[in-house]
Amino acid sequence: MSRKILVTSALPYANGAIHLGHLVEYIQTDIWVRFQKMSGNECWYVCADDTHGTPIMLRAEKEGITPEQLIERVHGEHFRDFSGFLVGFDNYHSTHSPENRECANDIYGKLKAAGLIDTRTIEQYYDPVKQMFLPDRFIKGECPKCGAKDQYGDNCESCGAAYAPTDLISPYSAVSGAKPELRNSEHYFFKLSDPRCEAFLRQYTARDNGVLQPEAANKMQEWLGAAGENKLTDWDISRDAPYFGFEIPDAPGKYFYVWLDAPIGYMGSFRNLCAKQGLDFNEFFKADSQTELYHFIGKDILYFHALFWPAELQHAGYRTPTKIFAHGFLTVDGAKMSKSRGTFITAGSFLKTGLNPEWLRYYFAAKLSATMEDIDLNFEDFCARVNSDLVGKYVNIASRSAGFIAKRFNGELAPADASLPAIKAIQEAAPRIAELYEAREFAKAMREIMALTDIANQYVDSVKPWELAKQEGKDVELHAACSNALNLFRLLTVLLKPILPVVAGKVEKFMNIAPLNWGDTQGLLAAGHAINAYEHLMTRVDPKLIEKLVETNKESLAPAVNPENSQKSAESQQRHAQHQQNEVKAESPWEPFCNIDDFMKVDLRIARIANAEHVEGADKLVRLTLDIGNNETRNVFAGIKSAYDPAQLVGRLTVMVANLAPRKMKFGMSEGMVLAASDTTGTTPGIFLLSPDSGAQPGMRVK
Ligand code: MSP
Ligand code: ZN
Repeated sequence: MSRKILVTSALPYANGAIHLGHLVEYIQTDIWVRFQKMSGNECWYVCADDTHGTPIMLRAEKEGITPEQLIERVHGEHFRDFSGFLVGFDNYHSTHSPENRECANDIYGKLKAAGLIDTRTIEQYYDPVKQMFLPDRFIKGECPKCGAKDQYGDNCESCGAAYAPTDLISPYSAVSGAKPELRNSEHYFFKLSDPRCEAFLRQYTARDNGVLQPEAANKMQEWLGAAGENKLTDWDISRDAPYFGFEIPDAPGKYFYVWLDAPIGYMGSFRNLCAKQGLDFNEFFKADSQTELYHFIGKDILYFHALFWPAELQHAGYRTPTKIFAHGFLTVDGAKMSKSRGTFITAGSFLKTGLNPEWLRYYFAAKLSATMEDIDLNFEDFCARVNSDLVGKYVNIASRSAGFIAKRFNGELAPADASLPAIKAIQEAAPRIAELYEAREFAKAMREIMALTDIANQYVDSVKPWELAKQEGKDVELHAACSNALNLFRLLTVLLKPILPVVAGKVEKFMNIAPLNWGDTQGLLAAGHAINAYEHLMTRVDPKLIEKLVETNKESLAPAVNPENSQKSAESQQRHAQHQQNEVKAESPWEPFCNIDDFMKVDLRIARIANAEHVEGADKLVRLTLDIGNNETRNVFAGIKSAYDPAQLVGRLTVMVANLAPRKMKFGMSEGMVLAASDTTGTTPGIFLLSPDSGAQPGMRVK
């Protein structure tokens, strides 16, 4: 019987670009969903942008647009990136939607009716200049433990200590710089500590209940505490205005905290899909639903999905998730993704550089398991695997046999040999590989598939179509060999289709067959079946593309505020989940510390622009002759042509690096560098040359 399955991936924040780390999750989920669909199950895959909260509100303000404008733009960018990586959502919605507001109000109302909502006055830091309460991540100060400066309000990046913002020494607002003051405000709480929640969660998250992976279940036991020791604390679900979110129905000026309506966004997105597709929402969400519900998430947001979310659903009278699948984090070349190293790679840059998204899908598949272990993207390994497995092994089977069928046999196939060991091997392995897909053991599945591909290649090597083709009277053998090879190729394509949907589509086209489904692993193509002309399927990875990709991502530096993890790193997982939170850090937009000696190595001097002229053949450069006092001049090529007319520059003072090692350029020697500011987020385009205050003289040292 066909199963009815609803699948989600976490909803990405609407204030940052999709990067390769995110893609681990969306590709993992998409592969699983494609496998379910190919297996004949009714499977729906929904997602949405997570649009609410302080960081998004402030980000929009900084860009000079409304939050609605920001989230609409980002929705487009996210959707484009996901489509580029062939992530096939059935619906990509937004948490800022009427459906989601309705679902959030409904769940809140039911929890309230069940006596699980409480109000309490809490004391919190308030920014008197910006006139708003500050989330933990927007308060900075000295670490109370080690004294490190400029640490966030929830934990110290220097010593790892976790604390409350009120513990910080000399706190200041990261929004305005003002000294925050403590103020009282009434907040709404979901009573997670209620005995009903505790009892439910103990049973729901228990290892033998099978909802969670074993390592996740263990973590939950830690968070719940030993039997009799209820470690759950009530969850603060409200925020004061100004806030971008949904106002709480009976509480003017109070808003649902972003993490309250974010998981509800799964429901909101599905409700929107139901309306479009004529599906029955209740069949999927009623308490005794016979359908299956799966959430794919990163390990950093387990607390929300394994505790708050199921407890809300349960006590609002809805079904709870069938399983929660948490995955690990992506590292690049063994280290955390880094903007300065160029390994914080955006999805958009990957596609724009001309890398094939199916390379990454295959690479991630070859690395993914059902555990929460981190996975590493190693670029050398990436090239080697894609080139050897996909191009060298898999595509090679078709490219060595399809041409002969077209040229010599009018495109028609001879009967396949059903007893051929290579064919039988695939047909026998298919159910095993299906189980591996179902269990999210993609790396194991890829290993099995590549072993079968090796067997198929051994067959082709043993019959040598290219030699048969040269011999007189070997037509029958050649026809059989190529027909068998193409049948092998078709079977392998079924197995790889969840990973490589575009390649599979091309194969279906050139083989002239209906869309492949999992059941097709048991059949073979009929004798006389006519194929179309072979279409080129996939090129090899050129390592130069990878170099280019890393370079591109070095240039596009971090935005100056709001690392995208800020909402959950901050307030959300709450202090009781801190130990886990510490594993997940947003990338800092700042360069690492340098000491004063490092800084003093840079000889900065006031310079007068004695001459400035266009450079023949260079579209970005201006040649500057800089007077740096002592009757010395320096020749510098500056990339400022887009912003300055050389004539305007002559005579003005600026700052230069006087001891930058001279560099030979196409147009001559460059003997230093002038300093200019630019907004690397691209929000405010332009280049802004530095100038000293009046009175400064050429040659003065800047320090
Ligand atoms: N908005 C929340 C999720 C709300 S779900 C109701 C959020 N957004 S996120 O943009 O920060 O992350 C989205 C998903 O991507 C999360 O599951 C997160 O774990 C995952 N990843 C983000 N960076 C990642 C890596 N570097 N590696 C693997 N997964 C990563 O959390
Ligand atoms: Zn510290």
